[in-house]
Amino acid sequence: MCKIEGPKGLRESKEMVKKKRSLGKATAKKSGSKTKLWAGRFKEVTNKLVEELNASISFDSRLYAHDIRGSVAHAAVLKKAGVLTEAERKRIVSGLGKVESEIVSGKFAFTPDMEDIHMAVEARLTELIGPLGGKLHTGRSRNDQVALDIRLYLKDEIYETVGLLHELNCTIVEIADANIDVVMPGYTHLQRAQPILLAHHLLAYFEMFTRDIDRYLDCLDRVDIMPLGSGALAGSPYNLDRKLAAKLLGFSAITENSLDGVGSRDFVLEFLSVASIAMANLSRLAEELILWSSQEFGFIELSDAFTTGSSIMPQKKNPDIAELARGKTGRVYGNLIALLTTMKALPLAYNKDMQEDKEPLFDTVDTVKSIYAVFSPMLKSLSIKREAMESAAARGFLNATDAADYLVEQGLPFREAHAVTGRIVAWCISRSKTLEEMELGEWKKFSPLFKDDIKKAISIKRSVDARKVYGGTARSTVKARLKKIKAGLTDLKVGK
Ligand code: ARG
Repeated sequence: MCKIEGPKGLRESKEMVKKKRSLGKATAKKSGSKTKLWAGRFKEVTNKLVEELNASISFDSRLYAHDIRGSVAHAAVLKKAGVLTEAERKRIVSGLGKVESEIVSGKFAFTPDMEDIHMAVEARLTELIGPLGGKLHTGRSRNDQVALDIRLYLKDEIYETVGLLHELNCTIVEIADANIDVVMPGYTHLQRAQPILLAHHLLAYFEMFTRDIDRYLDCLDRVDIMPLGSGALAGSPYNLDRKLAAKLLGFSAITENSLDGVGSRDFVLEFLSVASIAMANLSRLAEELILWSSQEFGFIELSDAFTTGSSIMPQKKNPDIAELARGKTGRVYGNLIALLTTMKALPLAYNKDMQEDKEPLFDTVDTVKSIYAVFSPMLKSLSIKREAMESAAARGFLNATDAADYLVEQGLPFREAHAVTGRIVAWCISRSKTLEEMELGEWKKFSPLFKDDIKKAISIKRSVDARKVYGGTARSTVKARLKKIKAGLTDLKVGK
């Protein structure tokens, strides 16, 4: 026994905890009220604290529609297996319909004693249609039921997520198209590097987000597999037509191994990984919006509707939404790491640990969808400060590579050309000059190869348009890419 007395406050709070605990015990006895569907072998009622910790209803209730869809299909399979008559199947289906409308209308209140959505639906069904409701769980376990529900849910959500990201991509293309002439500095190491088209910069995000879409859709292949019939872990002794269930529920395939069917969550991990990569990509755009809207850059102004003010500094207009996108990337990674850790070293097949898959999954789905949804209108409503971009592109020797390339054209090896141009840049910096401000005589001091046409060769516009290589920033190249994208965008099949 620990004899050391804690501070007064601590003593009091310990008393409170004790009090609450004993209250917990008392209510546990009373709330043993509702008999659990699995309580046959139990002599004591569930402890209240256990009931609360064990319950997933507070978060898995959002799976109700998928759970009911799964049960309707299972009833059809049970009918085919001869477990239910057609009349029984019909009564079950109509009972399930009633449960669903009660949930939708908010008449059905979820409480922890219901444990999870599967038990809640079945219990209410049995209240409504009597003992026949108890036949529905024949040949099924909550283990294959929950695996099915998550797969159904995730399929729907992947389509929605991809739809929103596609919308964002369309917005990016629209902005690139409308600003095809705008030149800005391109950066490496966040130092001005070479002039590029704003459209080219934006389309880099289009390419990244298109790969994200591909990854979401690719992961769908592993989600779109039907586990029902796996039972608790070993399969089912009933003659269940699993392919019928898959067909009724719109799945492309059925799981091959019952332990894998109930015991695997790598399809959730895969989605969380894809979402993490996608958020890494989006966070880069978020960061650029934050930088570009700062006074230091002044390249864009976000609209009032998508910014917030400060409670103390009246002049402030903050890019909170872009910051939140950047910040929420952390929680999306966290959700992936949480579930990876939960699944690590879990023995086959189902373990209750796996109930911990839902909150990270739901949180990631909600997070990425809300960010995609807000980014598109936020981008549409921002204004582009063309002059600021162009004057930034004109300062910082972004055309130094073009001067070196000029010498290469005159036959100088690139390394030497690089060194000569480096000396020119240093000379200009010491005299606060730009390359454009240099006289021909000054150029010639560095190399006799410079002729009058050097002026043209280093113009920013020419610098951009010279980069005609496939994938480069030349206006003609970017326009061609835009044309291709626009043709492809309408072709892209998104949705069920
Ligand atoms: N609520 C549970 C979960 O989300 C459902 C499966 C429970 N299965 C069991 N054997 N206790 O994982």
